[in-house]
Amino acid sequence: MHSYEKLLSLNKIWANEKIIVEPEFFKDLQHVQTPEFLWIGCSDSRVPPNEITQTQPGEIFIHRNIANLVVNTDVNVLSVLEYAVHHLKVKHIIVCGHYGCGGVKAATSNHNLKQVLNMWLRNIKDIYRIHRDELDAIESEESRIDRLVELNVQEQVMNLAKTSIVQRAWKEGNGPDLHGWVYGLKDGVINPVFEMKAGTHIDPLYEFDDL
Ligand code: CO
Repeated sequence: MHSYEKLLSLNKIWANEKIIVEPEFFKDLQHVQTPEFLWIGCSDSRVPPNEITQTQPGEIFIHRNIANLVVNTDVNVLSVLEYAVHHLKVKHIIVCGHYGCGGVKAATSNHNLKQVLNMWLRNIKDIYRIHRDELDAIESEESRIDRLVELNVQEQVMNLAKTSIVQRAWKEGNGPDLHGWVYGLKDGVINPVFEMKAGTHIDPLYEFDDL
């Protein structure tokens, strides 16, 4: 048996078990999805959103990329955001990073990771530069990277607030609240590190006045 065939056979078992517990499970989900949450997480295989939050299909709209970034020119994350906020009308957006993130660690190194990864990780180097005084003062490399993971999540939440997508929803009084969380690979526990309620004012430079 090939390794990928295991996935297909486990899927059959899972689908059968779901129906035994809840016969209408798939039928109910077939035509509507009304998730309350948008999750923007790291692609890391050790941080599966539904599993660590014990949520079911239909509960979380998910976008993942390396180091959970919200990049202003990334059509992928922005289209997910637009759809989640203005069509699904999610109430909460969660940016969830994780301690020990390989992407964040790589951004603190001076290795040339070839152009595409260099481009992506540059976003994290910029965050390090903004918080250089605080980060340089942390002696242990592991603690320094973990703090950068927290600051990264905070900056990505602010990046969400800078978009016209989120600001338009806030103006219309439709939420959503923004949350920055960090998951611990060592203990499986999520640590909330930053929060921005709907309607929070940010640096006026980023606020649109004609939405
Ligand atoms: Co990661």
